[in-house]
Amino acid sequence: MILAETIEELQKAKHNLKGTIGFIPTMGALHKGHLSLIQQARNENDIVIVSIFVNPTQFLEGEDLDSYPKREEADKKICEIAKVDILFMPNIGEMYEDDELNISAPAIRGYILEGERRPKHFDGMLQIVMKLLNLSSSTNAYFGKKDAQQLVLITRMVKNYFIPCNIIACDIVRDDLGLALSSRNAYLSEDDKKEALKLSSSLYYATKMIISGKKESNIIIQEIKNILKCDNIKIEYISIVSRDFKPLEVVEIGNTIILIAVFIGNTRLIDNIWI
Ligand code: PAJ
Repeated sequence: MILAETIEELQKAKHNLKGTIGFIPTMGALHKGHLSLIQQARNENDIVIVSIFVNPTQFLEGEDLDSYPKREEADKKICEIAKVDILFMPNIGEMYEDDELNISAPAIRGYILEGERRPKHFDGMLQIVMKLLNLSSSTNAYFGKKDAQQLVLITRMVKNYFIPCNIIACDIVRDDLGLALSSRNAYLSEDDKKEALKLSSSLYYATKMIISGKKESNIIIQEIKNILKCDNIKIEYISIVSRDFKPLEVVEIGNTIILIAVFIGNTRLIDNIWI
């Protein structure tokens, strides 16, 4: 595996390899969710590039930029074992200049749900993903359904800007009890983790309701609320949208995402299920 810390090193490393490129952008503290993306890329491409960059422009003031988990040495080992060809770990100066041209998330889909709670988050996220897609020259780029709105916005950006890269949507990886893996799970206490399991169990319950024919969004959302109800969970939103992020009054099988965002103590968690 080649470790590239500068753009020049990345370009040099790419120059010597031939074939299709699978790319997985991350912010590090790698877990099995990231690993599943890497493995899928390894299966489907000649060359695999992973980036680790904690992107400052997608964090809002007061968010966890400074305390975001860092595990560089462990991350390097994971990438090596997963047979990554190039690990790109740039510093901030390498990726940004002063007074840059900005990208704005689309007006409606970019500013609801996550975009409403975290204004400008998606602008910064799209800005770095655009840079990374261009730098990696990837044939295929892999993103998790865990960050559903991010995935949908990246797919739109690639389409709107004619970026020659396929965006591959990858399933959510969960632990044995159903908790969706996330680098931020590191912030949860044992008690918090027990509460956090209510996210996936409420989504599974919603799925059962839908299978049994109950498809009205407001009834499903009320049931999810009942399951999540407890002192330690503060609900930010529960939403039922189409795969293009339009609100749905009735679930459409094959075209629906149910999304949840909560605070458990001070930790913000998101989860979702694609129906
Ligand atoms: P990060 O949170 O590190 O996630 C990197 C990729 O891993 C994203 O595509 C995310 O959806 C995916 N992922 C995270 N947890 C997952 C899980 N449990 N199952 C499946 N996939 C999972 O998302 C980001 O970084 C950043 O916003 C980034 C795209 C790198 C831009 O800075």
